[in-house]
Amino acid sequence: MIRLQRPLSERYTAASPGELAQRIGAAKQALGDRLLVLGHHYQRDDVMSWADARGDSFGLSRTAASRRDAEFVVFCGVHFMAESADVLTAPTQQVLLPDLNAGCSMADMAHIDEVEDAWEALGRVTDVARILPITYMNSSAALKAFVGRHGGAVCTSSNARAVLGWAFGPDESGQPRADKVLFVPDQHLGRNTAFELGFVADEMAVWDPRFDLGGLSDAAVKQSRILLWRGHCSVHQRFRPEHVRAFRHAHPDGIVLVHPECAHEVVALADRVGSTDFIIRAVAEAPPGSTIGVATEIHLVNRLDAESPDKTVVCLDPLVCPCSTMSRIDPVHLAWVLEGLVEGEVRNRITVEEGTAAWARVALERMLAIT
Ligand code: 13P
Ligand code: SF4
Repeated sequence: MIRLQRPLSERYTAASPGELAQRIGAAKQALGDRLLVLGHHYQRDDVMSWADARGDSFGLSRTAASRRDAEFVVFCGVHFMAESADVLTAPTQQVLLPDLNAGCSMADMAHIDEVEDAWEALGRVTDVARILPITYMNSSAALKAFVGRHGGAVCTSSNARAVLGWAFGPDESGQPRADKVLFVPDQHLGRNTAFELGFVADEMAVWDPRFDLGGLSDAAVKQSRILLWRGHCSVHQRFRPEHVRAFRHAHPDGIVLVHPECAHEVVALADRVGSTDFIIRAVAEAPPGSTIGVATEIHLVNRLDAESPDKTVVCLDPLVCPCSTMSRIDPVHLAWVLEGLVEGEVRNRITVEEGTAAWARVALERMLAIT
């Protein structure tokens, strides 16, 4: 999705790394407690070093909401994260994304119009009142609002199991809350979570938004319990079972940690599976001297290795896989937004219109109530 970041002037693009660092430091000092810089775990080091708080996507939004004194929240992450922060923060707080082109290719795979079309198509073959939509945090605010309006919830990679369990669990009258779930946009997180809950492959079907009725027959839709949107993360889908086997061959006592956005064949070979925060905790808990192979974004893997001197942490994919959209946030754009604030100009503010924000909040709050 094109979000049109305007090109920056030479005052920024021609500045040396040292000059940019000095200017970012000066702007941060001038703004003091009015400013909160948030850094997602996948952020590059020359940006992360300026973060007042590090975290996963949801944790950072909560940090922003808990720091009501911070008038400006500069989110060094991707677009959907900045939107979630805007939904969860007070109206007096403004959220800025240093580069508007820092999107998430997975979130962009489920446009709200496509999901609305899918819902309408489903309504022609089955009773949509018996379907609950669940969206991964990695989705637009518009999609979160859709889910909120239709009784569903958001989930993160840490609580997807609890949220999917809730969807099929009993409601206030003791009846199953839903017969089916439409899980958007990450098919892998949906599939991995469904397997964990004991569903079998025949109960899942992949909904491909490029085709009528998701490319499925009426019978396949009716028979399925979980419709998995055909979305994926371009970073995590690179990991293959061969990577795990090669790591195990080289390090028979090594530990394999993978993110649940990886394909099920990879997850099935891992020792432990979990979100970015989970992976960080698992590395911290590993015995000194461990060699740990990790399937997630390379900036986090390298940082874990650098910050765990008694352990060796390597990426399972030898070809390395950065999140290219996250990497668009660089010192050049960070300096540009911060100096704008010092000059009284708010650049790249991310706002979610209140009608959308209210329903997105419903979906987020349902998730909180479940977990
Ligand atoms: P977290 O929810 O762990 O921050 O992960 C976000 C993400 O984009 C993973 O690819
Ligand atoms: Fe999106 Fe994947 Fe990047 Fe995460 S790593 S922000 S899911 S593209």
